[in-house]
Amino acid sequence: MKKSLMVVATLIALGFVNVQAAEEGAALYKKCASCHGAAGEKAALGKSKIIKDMSTAQITTALKGYKDGSYGGAQKALMKGQVAFLNDAQIAAIAAFIAK
Ligand code: HEC
Repeated sequence: MKKSLMVVATLIALGFVNVQAAEEGAALYKKCASCHGAAGEKAALGKSKIIKDMSTAQITTALKGYKDGSYGGAQKALMKGQVAFLNDAQIAAIAAFIAK
């Protein structure tokens, strides 16, 4: 009995974290929308891929790569400035939001 209550409590807690991450992703994405479109549907400055068509893993790789310089094309310096302030949890939240 006690055990199953704990399982339920854990599941509720995890659900809460997911909701929080989704909200955080939406909030963090606001500053990206001017270039990538409200739902990631635009090619930013006519150069980037349509990011809503990328998977969560691809977006995560791209954002981490812009941060450490291992990813990107001619405009990668611009994206480095966009993601420099994001930590791994924030990158995961943004990637989940865009790829949803
Ligand atoms: C000033 C316009 C601008 C803003 C703001 C911006 N981006 Fe970008 N983004 C670009 C451009 C241009 C590229 C292509 C860069 C390159 O040459 O690699 C790009 C590339 C990307 C890519 C990889 C797509 C590809 O072509 O491989 C992702 C993912 C991405 N941006 C996400 C974001 C996120 C998330 C934010 C907000 C934190 C953001 N961008 C803010 C312009 C912008």
